Parts: sequence; structure tokens; C-alpha cells
Amino acid sequence: MRPAELQQLYATVRQTSENLCRPLEIEDYVVQPMDDVSPPKWHLGHVTWFFETVILQKFQPHFKPFHKLYNFVFNSYYESFGTRVFRPKRGTLSRPTVKEIYAYRAAIDERMNELFATIAQKHWPEFSRLVTLGLNHEQQHQELLVYDIKYIFANNPLRPVYQKAKALPQTAEVKTEYLNIPGGIVEIGHHADGFAWDNEMPAHQVLLRDFKLQNRLVTNGEYLGFINDGGYSDFRHWLSDGWTVVQEQEWQCPLYWEKCDEQWFIMTLAGWRELDPNEPVCHVSFYEADAFAKWAQKRLPTEFEWEHAARIMNVEAGDGNFLDDQNFHPIPAQTAAPRLQQMLGDVWAWTASAYLGYPGYRQEEGALGEYNGKFMSNQMVLRGGSCATPRNHIRLTYRNFFQCDKRWLFSGIRLAN
Ligand SMILES: [Fe+2]
Repeated sequence: MRPAELQQLYATVRQTSENLCRPLEIEDYVVQPMDDVSPPKWHLGHVTWFFETVILQKFQPHFKPFHKLYNFVFNSYYESFGTRVFRPKRGTLSRPTVKEIYAYRAAIDERMNELFATIAQKHWPEFSRLVTLGLNHEQQHQELLVYDIKYIFANNPLRPVYQKAKALPQTAEVKTEYLNIPGGIVEIGHHADGFAWDNEMPAHQVLLRDFKLQNRLVTNGEYLGFINDGGYSDFRHWLSDGWTVVQEQEWQCPLYWEKCDEQWFIMTLAGWRELDPNEPVCHVSFYEADAFAKWAQKRLPTEFEWEHAARIMNVEAGDGNFLDDQNFHPIPAQTAAPRLQQMLGDVWAWTASAYLGYPGYRQEEGALGEYNGKFMSNQMVLRGGSCATPRNHIRLTYRNFFQCDKRWLFSGIRLAN
């Protein structure tokens, strides 16, 4: 990417984070209603700290930190960068204030822009690579911001509304079909030009049998069938660890669902409203996705099946429902035509694949080696992005990963056979 283009992208991505926070009141920026949720102000500071620590510290002559304790406050999980605030305690910090964090952002942006103007030609390849990585990192936090704001609002008895619902075209129910996908020895992973995380590489071959993949995401209506059939009270559908969580947490439905007078309601960023049976089911854990698949006498696709199907069916991000569309909620499938839809955007699809390094995987040298590689245990892969993912952030090879019981992310289900 040319310097002016990258600098423009830097400005756009940085602005997007602030735009996402614009509907918040000051108090919304500070709270942490569960350990997985970070206060919005922490996200804004942390992504800024990342540019300061990974780029300015490396390239800026006579570098001095903006504040000597911000490394402690805004370091997330990098052992290489030293000790940090215990993650569940992020919501206990009233300082730095929101105003101070915006000032921090502005100061680091100014220094970054100076560096864009003065960086030596010989340093450009590494500088531009790290800026691109920093922007992709900030985009990941934009997605987390949406998850976290939703959780913060849903957790509040006053049920605040983030934004008014956007009017969407009415769509009829799209029937489930299973499309035949030919297997073979197929290429998986990233080997093209352009940015990708280290966990998408190296590209390698995988043997797949012929399989069938559901034409669209599983809907709320289909998931209600599982609930109404006693899915949450029948141990036979559940993995042992999942069954333990169902009982301990008393799960009876996906996160953000509530039953009132025999009618189901859900929490959205546009407030509470009646459940739409045609929308993709969202906010389910891997355990729920797996139990639903067993109940439906189907299975979850592996991540390799998902990627191969997306590639041979020429899936593109263009018409998907992403962060840029500002629905902040999945929308129903749009067409009855027998083709793969909702592969990108709407909700991340849980796969049956454990999050592991590909054969020959090597994590980056140095602190950035901690970005992906050290999380390769006890997590499952999700594919396809969501309505909280920036459109230019997703790829067919993109691997998201979460623990099996997490469900505050925009996660859903697509079945295979
Ligand atoms: Fe981060």
C-alpha cells in the first residue's frame, strides 16, 4: 500500500473506533459487568497503547512514553511488555478519565502522523507492516467494543438503547437446503498478497470427503424447535463439559433471550423487541451449537470444510451484513435461490475444529509472537465474521477463536451433513 493510502486508512480506522463510542454517555465507558467485557474506555486506550508501544517506541527518535504508567494500565496480555492491571479489575479504574484517554489518542495520532511524514525509506517495509497489523488489531477491538457495549446495556435494568433500529426489507422464510460440496485434496490457509494473521499460515493441503453444507445460517425459529423440544433439559444432546455449564449457569436459551407471557423477546443494540424467527440465531456458545447440531441429527462443519466451500462457491464480503452497515444485528437470509448465503457477516459460525497451529506454523518473533500462538489450547474456531466485523477486515481464511462456553460474541450456527 502506498504511504498516503496507508495514512488515510490509519485515520479512517482510528476514527471508526471513536464513532462507535459516540452514542455512549461517560458512565457507559467505565463499567465492566463481567470479566470478559472490558470498559469501552479501556479499549480506546489499549489500541492506542499498541501503536505507541509497537511502533512509536521502535521508530520514533528520542521516544518518550506519553505516560509512564499507561503501559501497566493498557497492556492486555503481553508478558514481553511487563506486568499489567489484572483483567477483571479493568472496570475498577476511574482514572485515566475518558477525556484523558481521548487526549492520549490525539497525542499518539499526532506522533504517528509525524512518523508517516519522516520515516526513512529503509524502514518503510517494517513500519508499514506494523501499522497494518496495528490497524487490524484496532478493528478487532472495534468488534469487541460492539460485544461489550451490548453486554453493558443488556446488563442494565434501564435497558438503554444504543441506536434506533434501522428499517430493513421484509423477507420471507428461506427454506433450509443442503448443498453438495465436492471434497478432494484442497488448499487451506493464506498464501496471497495482503495482510493475514500468522495463524492463517502456512497454506497447506487437507483431504476432505464430499459433504453437504446448509445454504444459510440456522434461524431463531429453528433454534426455538430445539428449546421447545426440551433441548436444554436433555443431557443426551450435550458434551459433558457443556452439560455442566447448562446446569451451573441454568441456561435455557441463548444469551439475551427472555420469555414474557409465552412470547420470546431479545435484546439488541436497538433495545428489546420480539424475536424474529427468520433471523439467524445469535449469542450461542460452542456447546449450544454442538448440542443443536446433534438434536438436528446433523453436525458442525470443520473449519476446512467451511473455507473450501466458501472458496469454490466464490463467496465474497460485498453484500454481507457487517459493522459498516450499522445494523449491529444479524439479518434474515435474503434469497430463496439455492446458493450459499450468509457465509460472511451476520454471525461467526462455530466450527467443529479446535484452534491449533497449521502444520509448519511459526509464530512471529518477539512480543507479537504472543498475539495468536499462545492461545492455541481449549478454544474452537469460528469463521466468517459478523455484523460487528469491519467489512475490509474479513477474509475466507480468517480464523476467530473462543472458548466453548463464550456467547457474548455474535456467534451462530451453520450445519453440515
Ligand atoms: Fe488487543
